[in-house]
Amino acid sequence: MKILVINGPNLNMLGIREPDIYGKQTYASLVEQIEAWAQRLGAEVECYQSNHEGDIVDKIQAAYGVFDGIVINPAAYTHTSVAILDALKAVGLPAAEVHISDVNAREKFRHVSYAGMACAAHFIGLGFDGYRQALEYLVRDGTNG
Ligand code: DQA
Repeated sequence: MKILVINGPNLNMLGIREPDIYGKQTYASLVEQIEAWAQRLGAEVECYQSNHEGDIVDKIQAAYGVFDGIVINPAAYTHTSVAILDALKAVGLPAAEVHISDVNAREKFRHVSYAGMACAAHFIGLGFDGYRQALEYLVRDGTNG
């Protein structure tokens, strides 16, 4: 099983960025942990991070026929991007949404998730462990619904 993990804007700044909200661990450390978790689950994984909405749309489109599932934390684009929602729907791959922080306990504008509407499972406010749970979900239960 091949899983694509997509992280959106500013997640490359993990460790520096608002550590009281996102923790002190870096993006590089997140990638290391994701690779270790995937290996343990017997899955292949590619981690991709971009600050650009169109690049994320391109990456989702390119996943069609190549990957078996997508873990996505669209970061700020979660709350704004119909294009990312449409791309996820277009490829129809099993997808799981992750947010490090509990978006539902934060500002109101973070309560809406467009991308989440195309995701079968949601791991919110669990820190980095949300990525582990999302990988596990896709390996064990991932379907198109
Ligand atoms: C985030 C939550 C978003 O609201 C925010 O814009 C992010 C990160 C999270 O992982 O908690 O950049 O997706």
